[in-house]
Amino acid sequence: MKRVWVMRPFHDEAIYNSLKEHFEVDIWDDHKTPPHDVVMEKAKECDAFLPEGIDIIDAAVLDGATRLEVIGNRAVGTDNVDIPSATRTGILLTNTPGVLQDACADMTFALLLDAARQVAYGDRSIRAGKWVFFDQTPYLGLDAYGKTLGIFGFGGIGQRVAKRASGFDMRVIYHSRSRKIDLEESMGAEWAPSLADLLQASDYVSLHCPLTDATRKMMGAEQFAMMKSTAIFINMARGGVVDQPALYEALKNKTIARAAIDVTDPEPIPMSDPLLTLDNVVITPHVGSASEATFKNMGLMAVRNITAALTGDAPETPVNPEALQNR
Ligand code: GLV
Repeated sequence: MKRVWVMRPFHDEAIYNSLKEHFEVDIWDDHKTPPHDVVMEKAKECDAFLPEGIDIIDAAVLDGATRLEVIGNRAVGTDNVDIPSATRTGILLTNTPGVLQDACADMTFALLLDAARQVAYGDRSIRAGKWVFFDQTPYLGLDAYGKTLGIFGFGGIGQRVAKRASGFDMRVIYHSRSRKIDLEESMGAEWAPSLADLLQASDYVSLHCPLTDATRKMMGAEQFAMMKSTAIFINMARGGVVDQPALYEALKNKTIARAAIDVTDPEPIPMSDPLLTLDNVVITPHVGSASEATFKNMGLMAVRNITAALTGDAPETPVNPEALQNR
C-alpha cells in the first residue's frame, strides 16, 4: 500500500479520512516543521508528502528520496521545494492555487486598512494604558478611497485585490511578468511598464508575486526610495522578496510612511528584529490564506492532488509535470 506522510497533525478529519481510503497515512505529531533529518528519512519511507509551504524540501532530501513520488504542497507558493531537483529526480510537485485567492485578497485589505487607519496601533496604545483623554491626533490615518494602489504580480490573488480596490474607489495599476490587456478593461486596471513606474505612482504598493531568483530581495533601499514618502507598503508574498534591513531603514527614516507585512525573512521574525521596535509597521504571522474554510479547502486540494498522482490520474495543479518524464 502506498504511504502518505502528512507533515502536521492539525488538519480536518475529512483530510485524513479521505487519504485513509486509499493509502497508509503517517501523521507527524507536532505543529512545528519536522527536522531536516526526519524529512530525509521519510523520503525513503513514503510515496507522498503533504507539507506546509514553509517545510524545506531541498536537493539533499530529493536526491536521497528513493521512494517519494509526489509532494502535495498545502500552499500556492512553492519556494520551499527545490523544483529543479524535484524535476530531475522525477518527483511531481503540486500546489493549491485558486482556492486561496479570495482569502488572501481579504487579508490584503485587512492589512491595507490597518496600516492606513492604524487599527493595531490603536489597540496596542489602549492596552498600554495610553487612552486617558480624547485625542485623535496620534491616530490620524491615511485615506484609501481615491488613492492609487500598485499591485505587483497580477495572478489570481493580485486580481482579487484589484476587484476589492474598485469598491474602495481606488485607481489600480499593476506590473506583472506578462501584461494582461484583456483584464485591463474588465477590471479597470492600468499597466505600469516597470516596477519603478509602479513604485513612483502608487500610494499603496502591494506584492503578490512568487519568490523566485527574479524577485528575491527585489525591494531594496533603491526601490523604497522610489516610493512616495506618504506611501504604504504591503507584503503578502514572501519575506525573501524584500531586503528586510532596507525596509527597516525606509520606515525608520520615513522614506515611506508605513508598512503592513504578513511575511518576514526569516519566519518567525526574531524578537530582536529592529522592525519590531517601530510603530509604523504592522506584522501578521503568515496567515494570508488562513480563514477556516480556505485552510481546509487547501488541504483537500492537496489531498486530491496526491490521490490523483498516486493512483495514476492527472493532478489538478501540477507545478512540474515534466518531472514525470524523468521517472
Ligand atoms: C501561503 O503562503 C501559500 O503560499 O499558500
